[in-house]
Parts: sequence; structure tokens; C-alpha cells
Amino acid sequence: MFKKSKLILVLFLATSLLVACGSKGESAENKGVETSDKKIEGRWYTSGQSMRGKKVFEENCAVCHGAKGQGLVADWKKPDAAGKFPAPPLNGTAHTWHHSKDLLKRTVNEGGIALGGTMPPFKDNLTDQEKEAVLAHVMSLWPEDIYKVWQKRNPATK
Ligand code: HEC
Repeated sequence: MFKKSKLILVLFLATSLLVACGSKGESAENKGVETSDKKIEGRWYTSGQSMRGKKVFEENCAVCHGAKGQGLVADWKKPDAAGKFPAPPLNGTAHTWHHSKDLLKRTVNEGGIALGGTMPPFKDNLTDQEKEAVLAHVMSLWPEDIYKVWQKRNPATK
């Protein structure tokens, strides 16, 4: 009788130890995810958002704006033969950083066709999360000093 209960106790301890180890491992892992998805110091977005946005960008925007948002033409201010402007760079060298996040999102939503341009609207093709993520990625392409100026002008975007 004594032996049996001791065995049960040993088994119980062994199991709870295993469970303890398991959950410890798990919470350490979760912590890792949380840490990497915290806001990047001084930015409104997380590194996770920026990473997800890179994929959204590659799949939806790079074809016109270039893989690194550098644009695909030498002079984005020069209209083509049809009088249409080429896709501007989004990497901080053109004027994307003159606009608030709300305005940039409106451009992503509505595109430029209605205004006589050629960018298609993404209103129904991307989720709001994808739009936020793609803007995070676009801003991650800007040099630090450009982002700082933008942030000063847009203090509400936290
Ligand atoms: C078919 C080509 C094309 C695609 C695809 C495209 N764009 Fe554009 N984009 C343009 C053009 C061209 C303009 C300039 C306005 C116009 O002519 O419509 C522009 C303008 C912009 C602007 C305003 C730039 C500024 O400096 O104010 C932003 C921001 C932008 N695009 C982001 C995106 C994002 C993000 C995506 C992907 C989700 C995307 N674009 C996909 C062609 C494109």
C-alpha cells in the first residue's frame, strides 16, 4: 500500500515537472514573439508589422515602385508619352514623407486613377492590417533623419 502511493507520488512529481518544463519553454518562446513584435524604438510600428508589410509590398507594389521602393525610372517627375506620371520612389527620396499616415493610407485605398493617375485602388484587395503593415514597411525604407522630420510633423502617429 505504501509502495503504491509512493509510486503515484513519484509519477505525479515527474509529470508536474515535465509540465513545468514544458510551460516554461513555451512562455520563453512567447516572450520571444512578443519582444520582436514590440514597437521599434522611436517608430509607430512593430518589426513584425514591417516584416509582414515587406511581403505585402513585394506582392502588390514593387512591380511599379521598385523592390526597394526606389522607383523604376530616372525621373519620376517627368510624365510619360501619354502624359501620366511614373510611380514615384517611396523610399524617402521623393515626397512620400511629406504626407501623414492617414493621407498615405488614403492613397493606398483609392489609388490615383480617379485623380488622373495610374495607381490602382487597394481598398478591397488588402485588409486594414495589410495596409498598416505596408506603410510600416514603406517608412522602414526611409533614412532615419527623414523619418525624424516626418515624425515631428506627425506627432499624433504613435
Ligand atoms: C500599377 C502601378 C502601381 C502599383 C501596383 C502601386 N502603385 Fe503606388 N503609385 C503609382 C503611381 C503612378 C503613383 C502616382 C499617382 C498616380 O499616378 O496614380 C503612385 C503613388 C503612390 C503613393 C503616393 C506617393 C507620394 O509620394 O505621395 C503611395 C504612398 C503609393 N503609391 C503606395 C503604393 C503602395 C503601398 C502600393 C502597394 C500596395 C502601390 N503604391 C502600388 C503606381 C502604382
